[in-house]
Amino acid sequence: MTRQFIEFASPESSALISDEAPRPSPDEVLIEVHHAGINRADLLQRMGLYPPPEDASPIPGLEVSGVVVAAGPQCTGLQLGDRVCALTHGGGYASHAIARADHCLKLPDDMTTEQAAALPEALLTVWYNVFERGRLAAGETVLIHGGSSGIGTVGVQMAEAMDTTVISSAGSAERCDRVEQLGAAFVANYRGGDLLDQLSAAGYAGKIDVILDIAGGDLMQANLDVAAPDGRIVCIGVMRGMQSEINLATLFMKRLTLTGSTLRRLETAERARCFDAIREQIWPHVLSGRIQPVVDSVYPLQNVLEAHEHMRLGTHFGKLLLDCRVA
Ligand SMILES: NC(=O)c1ccc[n+]([C@@H]2O[C@H](COP(=O)([O-])OP(=O)(O)OC[C@H]3O[C@@H](n4cnc5c(N)ncnc54)[C@H](OP(=O)(O)O)[C@@H]3O)[C@@H](O)[C@H]2O)c1
Repeated sequence: MTRQFIEFASPESSALISDEAPRPSPDEVLIEVHHAGINRADLLQRMGLYPPPEDASPIPGLEVSGVVVAAGPQCTGLQLGDRVCALTHGGGYASHAIARADHCLKLPDDMTTEQAAALPEALLTVWYNVFERGRLAAGETVLIHGGSSGIGTVGVQMAEAMDTTVISSAGSAERCDRVEQLGAAFVANYRGGDLLDQLSAAGYAGKIDVILDIAGGDLMQANLDVAAPDGRIVCIGVMRGMQSEINLATLFMKRLTLTGSTLRRLETAERARCFDAIREQIWPHVLSGRIQPVVDSVYPLQNVLEAHEHMRLGTHFGKLLLDCRVA
């Protein structure tokens, strides 16, 4: 079976290369990829700023959807022909990709592979960081920064479905309105004035139990200021900078927890455990339509540089995808 995949010879050039499709190990499946999700980490990898882990495929692409076309003997829960979405350990920008069977979610008949490719990275990232590291519980209040992002559009809906009060931030009044339509009770415009002032005026300052911070930098002190006593702040991105100057007294006065993680470095077994929890607690809300993927645009695989530029400009709302069904 022939595979076609994207190679970035330099940050400014991409090429479609052909080789023999890899064979799955006993606990893996080979997926004929229909769509692949684009993540910020892929742009950094293309620029040479985020080398993949040593045991990962050097081919970019962290999440896919498509059809299982080969399966190792230990993949008892999946059959050839099953439609799935999956987290990949690299290798998603391709016509065929390997995924562990326990890193796959089986798709219902009424979900397109386009919708499904928007889910794996967001579901896993939000589950692990907000519900596990952040220990968000029903009845609590959560602030999900970047509600307009691929991660945030799903995260806002997940938190709302789990019976929490969700507040968020986005970069314009129009984008804030769209995030409110996803289920957020209040959305601050991070370009529209001081965040602490906006959250105070809305009555949320000092009452936020969990914060998912996708931006870091100068946002961190605002996070500490708006957190409730015993609040948990989980940082997963540094779009506003890797360095933060914070008032440490805020941490001990409110007994706050500051943590973070990166999915790429999370152990295989931990990811599988998260998928089990998602299947049980979140997937029913996806099947019922309460959580809906938000897809902004789909680009042909060959136009990957154009798609990356779209993400760099930040004009998208929700997810950018690649259509990997190359002729
Ligand atoms: N650690 C992990 O495991 C992990 C996994 C996945 C993603 N991430 C991180 O999560 C973030 C979102 O990823 P994504 O793929 O969903 O990206 P994305 O779709 O491109 O979204 C970027 C988001 O960041 C917001 N934003 C941009 N500049 C900002 C600023 N200066 N201050 C506050 N918010 C700002 C944007 O808001 P507007 O567009 O409304 O302006 C948008 O909501 C990235 O930082 C990514 O690296 C981390």
